[in-house]
This record gives sequence, C-alpha cells and structure tokens, in this order.
Amino acid sequence: MKQFISVSDVPDIDAMVQKALAYKADPFKDRTLGRDKRIGCLFLNPSMRTRLSTQIAAQQLGMETIIFNVGSEGWSLEFEEEAIMSGSSVEHVKDAAPIMGKYFDILAIRTFPSLKNREDDYSELFIKQFIKYAGIPVVSLESATLHPLQSLTDIITIEEENQKLKKGNNKLKIVLTWAPHVKPLPQCVANSFCQWINKWGKADFVITFPEDYELSEQFTRGATVTHDQDEALKNADFVYVKNWSTYTDYGKIYCNDPEWMLTNEKLQLSNNAKVMHCLPVRRNVELSDEVLDGPNSLVTQEAGNRVWAAQAVLSEILKPTM
Ligand code: CP
Repeated sequence: MKQFISVSDVPDIDAMVQKALAYKADPFKDRTLGRDKRIGCLFLNPSMRTRLSTQIAAQQLGMETIIFNVGSEGWSLEFEEEAIMSGSSVEHVKDAAPIMGKYFDILAIRTFPSLKNREDDYSELFIKQFIKYAGIPVVSLESATLHPLQSLTDIITIEEENQKLKKGNNKLKIVLTWAPHVKPLPQCVANSFCQWINKWGKADFVITFPEDYELSEQFTRGATVTHDQDEALKNADFVYVKNWSTYTDYGKIYCNDPEWMLTNEKLQLSNNAKVMHCLPVRRNVELSDEVLDGPNSLVTQEAGNRVWAAQAVLSEILKPTM
C-alpha cells in the first residue's frame, strides 16, 4: 500500500480488519517491521485519539515517531500553486513537504476543512499537496472530507461485535444517525463511514438526518436515506451517532432539534443496537449520558481499536514489496 487516504487505497477491507484483529491479539508480533524507520505525524488541527493511537501503533511496529503540531508550533503553510506569498503564510508546502520526505519514511497528516468554501474543502488540496511534494507514503489522520482510520476502526469494532451476535446469513442493519451539536462540524466522519460501509457491502445501511443535512451522494450512494429517525432505528443492530454541518448550503447549522439526540427510549426501537460514536462527544447534546454509560455503548472499545487500525495500515505500508 502506497498511501492511506480513503477506502480506495484498501483492496480488501476484510483482510485489513483481520490484520488489525491479529494485532489486537498479539500487539508486538511485528515489533521489528518498522525498525530504523521514522513516521512524522503532522497536526494542523487538534487530536487526542488519532495522535496517541497512531504513535502507539508505530511504536509497536518498532518505528520512531515525531509529532509536529504544525498548526500551533510550525510556520504557517501556503498550499496554493503560484501563490504570491505576501500574506500571513510563511512557507510553501512545495518547500516544506520535500524536506519532510527526507526526514521521514511515512508522513501522517491531520488537516480539517475550513467549512467556508465547499469546493476548496472537497478538493482536498492540503493532503494532495503533501502527497505531491513529500515523495513518501502519506497517511490521512483525517482530512477535509474523510477520516479513513476512524472508518476502518468502526468496521473492526462492528466485526468484533458481529461475531458475538451470530446473525448467521441474516444481514446486519447499520444506521448512521445525525445528532445535534453546538458548533458546525465537518462531514468527514459521516462521509467516510458511508464510503466504507457501502464498499464493505455486508450490511443493510440506513442514513437518517433532518431535512437540509444531506451528505454528498458520492458517499451515500447505495444506502437507504430517510428523514424519519424512528423508522430508521427499527431493528437496527448498530447505531452510529454523529453530527455534521450542512453540505448544500455549506458548513451551516440549520435545524438543531434536540429530539434527534439518541436516548434509551429511542434505542428501544432497535434490535438492542450497539451504539457507536467516533468521540469526542457532547454529552446530553449528541448522546444522552444513559446511552453513553449504558451496556449498549461501544465508544471506549471503538476508540481503543484505533490502535489496531493504525497498526494494520502502517504495517501494510511498511511491508516489503517483491
Ligand atoms: N475520533 C477522533 O479522530 O478523535 P481525535 O480527534 O481525538 O483524534
């Protein structure tokens, strides 16, 4: 694998899930695979889980990790080609990225969208410029429109639980539900979850959100879409809760109806569904305490699995090619 930017970089999702679960069972089985290799983790935006889990994963493969908080500690970067740099940006990515390519063997990058201009955000300019100029494999730690390490983790977690459900040949029902939030958030996690679950193809996949919160069809195509959350939740085996801001009239909060918060009462409609969220979560806004602290919540298990997803991805990139 040359890069990990989206599900398109993964030829076989199930094989990647099994690889991650094998690392969960035996974290140090490839402790020398990354010996004498170094990963640079660049953060243009904040993180807790992604930062720590990627570092742990790299260390378990024997890699050295250097974390660089570009957003708060580094020179501000320019990404536009042929920019006249008379503004606040100090260094162009075409100067910075090749240097990182000399320092590191793998470059991992977190960069959020501006939520101001959809075309700009959906062009994925920042991560594409790093890919173009670094000359080494690039791993997304969440980009403007996608969060593939989170989505791989989510499928790992669903697969772990699925083995306990023993549904035989009956297809799982997975529901992605929009939830209220106090701030306009990116569509990355939702887009990515849709992209991965659709490609995985092992579930009846339903997406539910209030009017005006539709996601780009490039990610949702293949899923059932409804504005009726109660209907969506019926017989669900997994409920993935996530807020996102509007896509069409980009980056806005329209309806923020608290009725969309997932509660135990709503969960009664489901097939005793397990509840997922990528975290961080706004308690009693997106999800009620009773759900988050209850027996159906997978959120801690899910966040724990971030290590194994990252380890599987880094291992695929490090794997010697014939
Ligand atoms: N889910 C997730 O990416 O968490 P962090 O923002 O803390 O990395």
